[in-house]
Amino acid sequence: MLIEVSGVTHTYAGRREPVVRDLDVRLEEHRIGVIGANGSGKSTFARMLNGLVVPSEGTVSVEGRDTRRHGREVRRDVGFCFTDPDSQIVMPTVAEDVAFGLRRRGLSKAEVAARVEDVLRAHGLAQHADHAAHLLSGGQKQLLALTSVLVTEPRLLVMDEPTTLLDLRNTRMVADLVARLPQQVVLVTHDLDLVAGFDRVLVFDESRLVHDGAPAGALRHYRELMS
Ligand SMILES: Nc1ncnc2c1ncn2[C@@H]1O[C@H](COP(=O)(O)OP(=O)(O)O)[C@@H](O)[C@H]1O
Ligand SMILES: [Mg+2]
Repeated sequence: MLIEVSGVTHTYAGRREPVVRDLDVRLEEHRIGVIGANGSGKSTFARMLNGLVVPSEGTVSVEGRDTRRHGREVRRDVGFCFTDPDSQIVMPTVAEDVAFGLRRRGLSKAEVAARVEDVLRAHGLAQHADHAAHLLSGGQKQLLALTSVLVTEPRLLVMDEPTTLLDLRNTRMVADLVARLPQQVVLVTHDLDLVAGFDRVLVFDESRLVHDGAPAGALRHYRELMS
């Protein structure tokens, strides 16, 4: 999908300084990474892509739909995965949580059950279907949160530091899952290995996009900024 960010500056209510400034960018690559220091505006940028944050100035549009006016339609196509899966898991059991994403779609109970079973199997969670979601391990929780988003069949998946709370094994599991996804992905991360093979990497620093290009150059730019 084509994401067009035009003349965007965002200042949160009650704050004086913008957290994203003068941003103009067009994104349509399959794999886009976003890196940068803490507080540089990455999460705000990510949240603007599905209208969770509407910019105070400028426009963000996804396939020509402005997030300011068409937030609900945009969110149907743009799935979002947070750092902390606990903030995303809403139902008591694994299967119920995945089914929750399919509510209000006009599917029969049997259709929902079949879709849930398929997607749990595809992501290696079938044996946990009736387990309490809060008892899963950190990695399994993140897998569940991702599965609950993927069952809604988004065309773009925005992930905000999905591996920050995970150990190395679970980070690899999420990285492998991302690598297999047919969907377009925008991934915010501090784990530079995750974006090394991406098509394009954006570097944010102090509220601005300061580098935009292939991973090698972007990682070099970021390392220099941090040294
Ligand atoms: N909802 C909010 N209200 C006010 N300030 C916020 C909010 N969310 C983030 N901020 C502030 O905006 C700045 C940029 O944050 P953020 O976009 O989360 O950057 P990053 O993800 O790169 O750490 C930070 O100073 C943060 O404290
Ligand atoms: Mg952040």
